[in-house]
Amino acid sequence: MKPLGQSRREFVKKSSATLLGSALSFNIVKANPMKKHLNADTLKVGLIGCGGRGTGAAVQATKAEDNVLLTAMADIFPDKLEASHKNLLLENPDKIQVAEDQKFIGFDSYKKVLESDVDVVLLTTPPSFRPGHLAAAVEAGKHIFCEKPVAVDAPGIRSVIQTAQKAKQKGLSLMSGFCWRHDKPKLATYERLLGGEIGDIHTIYNTYNTGAAWYRDRKPEWSDLEYTLRNWMYYNWISGDHIVEQAIHSLDLMSWAMGDVMPISATGTGGRQSRTEEKYGNIYDHFSTIFEYGDGRRGFHISRQQEDCSRAYSIDMMGNQGRCEVDVFKKHYITGKSGDWKWDGEWSNMYQNEHDTLFKSIRDNDPFSDGVRMANSTMLAIWARMVAYTGKTITWDEAFNSQEVLGPSIEEYSWDLTWPTPPVAKPGISSFI
Ligand SMILES: NC(=O)c1ccc[n+]([C@@H]2O[C@H](COP(=O)([O-])OP(=O)(O)OC[C@H]3O[C@@H](n4cnc5c(N)ncnc54)[C@H](O)[C@@H]3O)[C@@H](O)[C@H]2O)c1
Repeated sequence: MKPLGQSRREFVKKSSATLLGSALSFNIVKANPMKKHLNADTLKVGLIGCGGRGTGAAVQATKAEDNVLLTAMADIFPDKLEASHKNLLLENPDKIQVAEDQKFIGFDSYKKVLESDVDVVLLTTPPSFRPGHLAAAVEAGKHIFCEKPVAVDAPGIRSVIQTAQKAKQKGLSLMSGFCWRHDKPKLATYERLLGGEIGDIHTIYNTYNTGAAWYRDRKPEWSDLEYTLRNWMYYNWISGDHIVEQAIHSLDLMSWAMGDVMPISATGTGGRQSRTEEKYGNIYDHFSTIFEYGDGRRGFHISRQQEDCSRAYSIDMMGNQGRCEVDVFKKHYITGKSGDWKWDGEWSNMYQNEHDTLFKSIRDNDPFSDGVRMANSTMLAIWARMVAYTGKTITWDEAFNSQEVLGPSIEEYSWDLTWPTPPVAKPGISSFI
């Protein structure tokens, strides 16, 4: 599979006059001589999901190297797309060249971006859309950055694994937003850990204990579906619940240290104690899970989104020859075979690092593949939700093969859709499907 940049180069040779014409048709290019100009080597980027993270990812993508432009954008809400566009123009003005007819709105807006001549897409909608968007992006032959989590249920995970295999076959780069894997202090720490510095890791305790998340007050003109989608985090059929949407980062850090080997069994609990009002949809506000690896190793996870409680975002790893403590934004300590070590290097922007790696892999025609790893880390969080919701101990095989589909497929979405939110799960009463 040739990198898409090359195929455009070939196209340019055949019809340079046509391409020159289309480049000049960008008003914004004509208007500002400081703008970067499209040429045969330009990597064009399309953004699908223009919220906070999508806007950030578009900045990082367009800063990953000199010859990258954002040329298409998609969202279901015009106000979100326009706000993102405005912020992007402030942040990186010469790299944002989205013509008016390349701004797409609606549930099918992702298709329009994929039909445009972008080389790379940024998939940054709420999680439930990810498996469908990923499959369509790979079908269209685009390189991909996709945010975590990559699905909200096991059928979504199985679809993502198939899609990732197809991406590999097509030579497409696929980078996920498990950003800590691109963070310099974590890379230095994990290099030592995986090199055996604390011996065999037998126990990992990890946390993601944080406060409340944002909430958007209902406007009278919003339909039920619009209200739900603007507050997507609180609906498990869109977000997967907060363990899947947010605390997943800690589970990914645990999985990395365990060699990305999946546990065999999980048990746990969870519930909804301080965030009980109807406006908070049907998600829990705390989880606690124990993962058994089947070889004596165990992983313990605690997460919560509860206001005015102690916070922690950490991973504590115990081995038979030492210990490693990571407070993800602050400290990285190891007491191991070679004595004491701590990270005291310079921090860099992990979000930028992941995009730099992605774009380099595209240029080098050496596709980056996060496929199975991003699916597995997402599945850990889905599995933890399953054990908490049902109150049952569930094996990996059972969880991975679960038939539970939480929400509609991307094709089913329209503004006429009604999708009743299920009641809050009750352990011992809610069934495992
Ligand atoms: N890696 C990280 O550190 C990190 C940080 C924040 C968010 N995220 C992830 O990024 C994703 C987006 O989160 P966010 O904070 O940007 O949320 P957000 O609500 O700010 O943005 C989501 C955007 O997607 C749009 N959207 C919704 N459905 C769409 C559809 N079908 N087609 C096109 N656009 C659609 C929304 O209108 C909104 O503009 C989530 O998966 C979240 O977990 C990752």
